[in-house]
Amino acid sequence: MNVQQAIETRWSPRGYVATPIPASDLHKIFEAARASHSCFNEQPWRFLYATKDAGPARATLEGLLGEGNAFAKEPWILGLTFAKTQFTKTGATNRHAGYDLGSAAALMALQAFELGWGMRFMAGFNLQNATKLLPVGFEAYSMFTLGKADPALTRPERQRKPLSDFFFENSAERAT
Ligand SMILES: Cc1cc2nc3c(=O)[nH]c(=O)nc-3n(C[C@H](O)[C@H](O)[C@H](O)COP(=O)(O)O)c2cc1C
Repeated sequence: MNVQQAIETRWSPRGYVATPIPASDLHKIFEAARASHSCFNEQPWRFLYATKDAGPARATLEGLLGEGNAFAKEPWILGLTFAKTQFTKTGATNRHAGYDLGSAAALMALQAFELGWGMRFMAGFNLQNATKLLPVGFEAYSMFTLGKADPALTRPERQRKPLSDFFFENSAERAT
């Protein structure tokens, strides 16, 4: 699968089987996040995760999930994305931290997909309790699943707005 094929066919499963992910695949997926670009090369992205067999650490993450995201208890990996909110060198607020985390997350999802694993990010979680798991100076953004998509699921038809909603040559006047 080349990059274009991965971009075109990637989807975010909402159902999983608990197949373990081999360490070599996990390493490639993590490396994809590591390779991402970031403002001042700060690399502010962080990922807390627990495998299905991790016991209390996994239960803590599962306990953060919103009601609508109970499916996320199934996959081999459940995680929380977070980011460093200040630049390490200057201490100034890094308003690009979320942007950079999103880029790293997108690369991860593509790499996972290419290797046959599914990822879905989730905003539906208890932000207050998630923040309690993090050191000072970090902000929680999303939770994520990473695992083998339930084989009974098929990729839903992709719903996207037309390109004309996103790209504006010379003037942004028409943006809504
Ligand atoms: C930041 C973010 C938050 C999301 N929150 C949820 C969520 O709480 N629950 C869920 O089922 N899907 C969630 N999604 C998944 C999106 O609904 C999904 O990516 C979108 O519908 C496009 O589908 P696709 O990824 O299969 O192309 C989230 C995605 C992102 C990037």
